[in-house]
Amino acid sequence: MQIFIDSADAAELKTLAQTGLVDGVTTNPSLVAKAGRDFFETLREICAAVPGPISAEVVAQDCETMIKEGLKLRAVAPNIVVKVPLTPEGLKACKYLEDNGHPTNVTLCFSAVQALMAAKAGATFVSPFIGRLDDNGQDGMELIREIRAIFDNYDYPTSILAASIRTAGHVRDAAIAGADCATIPPTVFKSLYKHVLTDMGLEAFLKDWKSTGQSIL
Ligand code: E4P
Repeated sequence: MQIFIDSADAAELKTLAQTGLVDGVTTNPSLVAKAGRDFFETLREICAAVPGPISAEVVAQDCETMIKEGLKLRAVAPNIVVKVPLTPEGLKACKYLEDNGHPTNVTLCFSAVQALMAAKAGATFVSPFIGRLDDNGQDGMELIREIRAIFDNYDYPTSILAASIRTAGHVRDAAIAGADCATIPPTVFKSLYKHVLTDMGLEAFLKDWKSTGQSIL
């Protein structure tokens, strides 16, 4: 499964990219507002730090302006993916952009039939929001399973990008359910390789090794 980071904090993304485990980045208008910096400058820095797909979201409501915004975002760097909302206008913009060689990420997906529409529009990625569904008393992971079944039934090439991830358990369950990628907040990413038994085990191994008085190098 590909791991993307859900953030617009260019400095933190640069540090996380050094792990070699980051395959891409997703941003959204709220994350850009939180970062508090110029959008285009931020995107340039992120695209330089992470070689994979970097989603940048349009903010227009109508197809024509979404396309104009999308093309401007695409001009920032070749790894920009244009993020469009799962609305009728967003799907029209998705189809136009994909038909003209520009990858898209259809965002704010909350149902399997919405994902089907995104796949039919030719989206490169569709982003089902797991955490927000859970927050709303629904089962976000069930949506991933439904979309996986539909895309497999018809061989849709659209990648399932599990979004609105809140916990390491979400990452595990999305991987089991067959999501192609997950976009993860930095805090959750850092928790993925942590385990208290790893830390305790390493401490004991190092103590015992020291008692042998030997060295490897
Ligand atoms: C996805 O692309 C979105 O940026 C993101 O995952 C939204 O997550 P949230 O529900 O934590 O805001």
